[in-house]
Amino acid sequence: MATLLFLTLVLSAFAMASAAAPLQGASRDRAALLSFASAISSDPSGALAGWVSLGSDACNWTGVTCHRLKKRVVQLDLSGRGLRGVISPAIGNLSFLVVLDVSGNSLSGTIPPEIGCLSRLQQLSLSKNLLVGSIPVELGFLRQLIYLDLDSNRLSGRSPRTLFCNCTSLQYVDLSNNSLSGEIPLADECRLPGLRFLLLWSNNFEGPIPTALSNSSMLAWIDFESNYLSGVLPSTIFDKMPFLQFLYLSYNNLSSHDANTNLTPFFASLRNCSHLQELELAGNNLGGHIPPLIGDISINLVQLHLDDNAISGPIPPNISNLVNLTYLNLSYNYLNGSIPPDLSRLRKLERVYLSNNLLSGDIPPSLGGIPRLGLLDISANMLTGSVPDSLSDLSQLRRLMLHKNHLSGRIPASLGNCINLEILDLSYNRLTGRIPGDVAALSSLKLYLNVSANLLEGPLPMELSKMDMILALDLSSNNFSGAIPPQLGSCVALEYLNLSGNALQGTLPSSVGALPYLQVLDLSSNRLSGTMPVSLQASVSLEHFNISFNNFSGAIPTEGLFASLTADSFRGNPGLCGSIVGMPSCGTKPARWSIALPILLTVIGTACIICLLAYSLVRKSRTCWCSHRTSHRQSLIAAEEQKQHHPRISYRQLVEATEGFAESNLVGGGRFGHVYKGTLPDETRIAVKVLDPKCGER
Ligand SMILES: *[C@@H]1O[C@H](CO)[C@@H](O)[C@H](O)[C@H]1NC(C)=O
Ligand SMILES: *[C@@H]1O[C@H](CO)[C@@H](O)[C@H](O)[C@H]1NC(C)=O
Ligand SMILES: *[C@@H]1O[C@H](CO)[C@@H](O)[C@H](O)[C@H]1NC(C)=O
Ligand SMILES: *[C@@H]1O[C@H](CO)[C@@H](O)[C@H](O)[C@H]1NC(C)=O
Ligand SMILES: *[C@@H]1O[C@H](CO)[C@@H](O)[C@H](O)[C@H]1NC(C)=O
Ligand SMILES: *[C@@H]1O[C@H](CO)[C@@H](O)[C@H](O)[C@H]1NC(C)=O
Ligand SMILES: *[C@@H]1O[C@H](CO)[C@@H](O)[C@H](O)[C@H]1NC(C)=O
Ligand SMILES: *[C@@H]1O[C@H](CO)[C@@H](O)[C@H](O)[C@H]1NC(C)=O
Ligand SMILES: *[C@@H]1O[C@H](CO)[C@@H](O)[C@H](O)[C@H]1NC(C)=O
Ligand SMILES: *[C@@H]1O[C@H](CO)[C@@H](O)[C@H](O)[C@H]1NC(C)=O
Ligand SMILES: *[C@@H]1O[C@H](CO)[C@@H](O)[C@H](O)[C@H]1NC(C)=O
Ligand SMILES: *[C@@H]1O[C@H](CO)[C@@H](O)[C@H](O)[C@H]1NC(C)=O
Repeated sequence: MATLLFLTLVLSAFAMASAAAPLQGASRDRAALLSFASAISSDPSGALAGWVSLGSDACNWTGVTCHRLKKRVVQLDLSGRGLRGVISPAIGNLSFLVVLDVSGNSLSGTIPPEIGCLSRLQQLSLSKNLLVGSIPVELGFLRQLIYLDLDSNRLSGRSPRTLFCNCTSLQYVDLSNNSLSGEIPLADECRLPGLRFLLLWSNNFEGPIPTALSNSSMLAWIDFESNYLSGVLPSTIFDKMPFLQFLYLSYNNLSSHDANTNLTPFFASLRNCSHLQELELAGNNLGGHIPPLIGDISINLVQLHLDDNAISGPIPPNISNLVNLTYLNLSYNYLNGSIPPDLSRLRKLERVYLSNNLLSGDIPPSLGGIPRLGLLDISANMLTGSVPDSLSDLSQLRRLMLHKNHLSGRIPASLGNCINLEILDLSYNRLTGRIPGDVAALSSLKLYLNVSANLLEGPLPMELSKMDMILALDLSSNNFSGAIPPQLGSCVALEYLNLSGNALQGTLPSSVGALPYLQVLDLSSNRLSGTMPVSLQASVSLEHFNISFNNFSGAIPTEGLFASLTADSFRGNPGLCGSIVGMPSCGTKPARWSIALPILLTVIGTACIICLLAYSLVRKSRTCWCSHRTSHRQSLIAAEEQKQHHPRISYRQLVEATEGFAESNLVGGGRFGHVYKGTLPDETRIAVKVLDPKCGER
């Protein structure tokens, strides 16, 4: 504060001096700089506050550069210094200024028209501030201007025609991310022969792509994305731009030739752009077919975005000439026919989106031969046949989306080789058989596994417990049977679990209720029974809970989560009672769950249980075995559930007692189960039996 006051005082001293006689040369620059500084209200880096203390020679001031001989200010660079305040019109007095860069601050107010007086200015960077108002017409006087960067402000209104008409030296223009409106101000009689970058994305520009652009044959980078440009995609503008590398026209209102039915003239005009690397035309409602001559455009093409249009017809096999392509997005169109097997010639492809089209036929097995493919989304088409085994060769694959097609057959077990897979969505198909254990064991699945709405059957694979990073698991609307494996409690990251619409039986394992991040649990429309595990009541994360249309019984707990649920969560369970409106009340019977608990424990034979038996009781029994690796977690739960019948022994104590289920402590095992001997700290000798629900199926 004190410093700024001081600056203001100094400034008024100069103002008085200038009233006496017009300042000239270096002192005029100095006065202008001090005026500039006085309009700055906040200067967290102290750059301006330090000016005066650096001496009276402004050429020594932070951010100021002078001509070595003339001692006139040629450069003012105060970018990214957190400055607040306005840009003083006095800046227009720095008549030797060549570079003005105050980008990346929080300057507000308008762009002073006085900047138009800086006839030597070559670089004007005001980007990333809070500037409002329109671009002053006076900027059109800047005939030397090469670099104009006004992006990411709040500029509005029409841009002056003079800017693109008189500033014929311009090479770089960035007006992006403002609210500028009107047509792109490049009149027919004007030309910007040196222009190389024209970035206008995210404004309100309307009207056609100006024809006069064809005079700017040096253009390398055109970004008109996210405006309201309309008219036909030009066929005679881009062909004059042999150096064009990036052409972004997405999210406008452009159409193709012949009443939006013919893309050929536009693509043909791109054949001369031999350096083109990225072409983006998404979201324009473009009609027509992808012309086969797409294979003749730049061999350097790396990205092609044609998504979100109205393009119909087949994907021409010629597209596979574009051998440098890494990204292909054709989703949300009306493409039909089959996926060209030749697509696999695009060996650099990393991300392929063909979703939401009308593609039919089989998934070409050749797609498995694209070595770097990380994402394949061919969902929401009409693809038939099975999921090709060859997809397992895609070692880099992270996301595989095949949902909403007519795929049949089994889920290939080989998909378990895709050890980088994070998302596997096979939902809404006609897949049959079981979930292969190898697929369920994909511990890489971080985001989700969705096999909902298929014809899958059999028990839920125990290997699901290995998905300890997965956020969402949707197995709903299939024909899965058997019990909910308590091992699901090992999927500790789960936020969403949907098992609804299957034929699952048995109880809800308390380990599932104890999942620490679970927000949605849908078990509706199964044949589940037993009481609510107490662990659910304690859940702090659960938001949606649905067990309707099952055979659950007993009293609905009243605490925690249950306090906020309605009868909708419990409908169609004749044995359930509770104080929730719409549910039968439980009467005064003693807590029914104390009766239900033994039943629960009996039923839990479908799960891995650890029974604590006296060592003398060890015998071969008709119980089950499960890999103790997956059962460890469960054994704790089992031990806890039994605490009313047996001394409470923690899982950790069990591990210690059996020396971590060591092979040397294995006393019995084989087809039905494994029994370990152990010794508790109090010298009690115990046997730990590990049971496997799988055997129950045999
Ligand atoms: C420029 O500033 C430095 C301190 O940063 C000082 O040592 C030097 O004397 C100043 N030069 C002039 C010409 O004022
Ligand atoms: C620019 O300098 C002239 C003469 O030195 C002075 O009269 C004028 O007020 C200055 N302009 C601004 C905006 O400070
Ligand atoms: C632009 O140039 C024309 C003719 O060269 C001139 O008449 C006009 O004043 C200039 N406008 C600006 C804003 O520089
Ligand atoms: C666009 O400008 C706003 C400020 O107006 C800024 O917050 C945002 O980061 C900018 N967007 C991009 C992509 O630069
Ligand atoms: C600029 O381009 C337009 C349209 O292509 C053309 O008619 C005009 O002659 C060109 N002007 C110059 C100076 O090249
Ligand atoms: C897009 O252009 C068509 C005519 O080509 C027009 O009818 C429609 O209103 C435009 N849409 C927008 C959002 O500008
Ligand atoms: C495009 O390139 C071909 C061959 O290189 C050339 O004959 C033709 O004139 C070029 N077209 C334009 C519009 O530059
Ligand atoms: C498309 O590919 C086919 C077969 O490779 C070829 O015969 C045809 O000439 C190509 N079409 C174009 C326009 O490149
Ligand atoms: C495109 O591919 C060719 C040959 O395959 C290669 O020489 C060229 O460097 C690639 N271009 C890019 C931009 O990767
Ligand atoms: C591909 O296009 C669709 C539709 O426009 C879009 O939702 C999706 O995000 C695109 N993919 C990427 C990675 O941009
Ligand atoms: C693709 O759609 C067109 C109509 O747009 C139709 O004539 C053609 O037969 C379809 N092709 C296939 C393979 O379905
Ligand atoms: C599959 O499930 C995941 C996780 O719940 C979800 O994000 C995704 O949208 C689902 N897929 C479909 C096609 O509904």
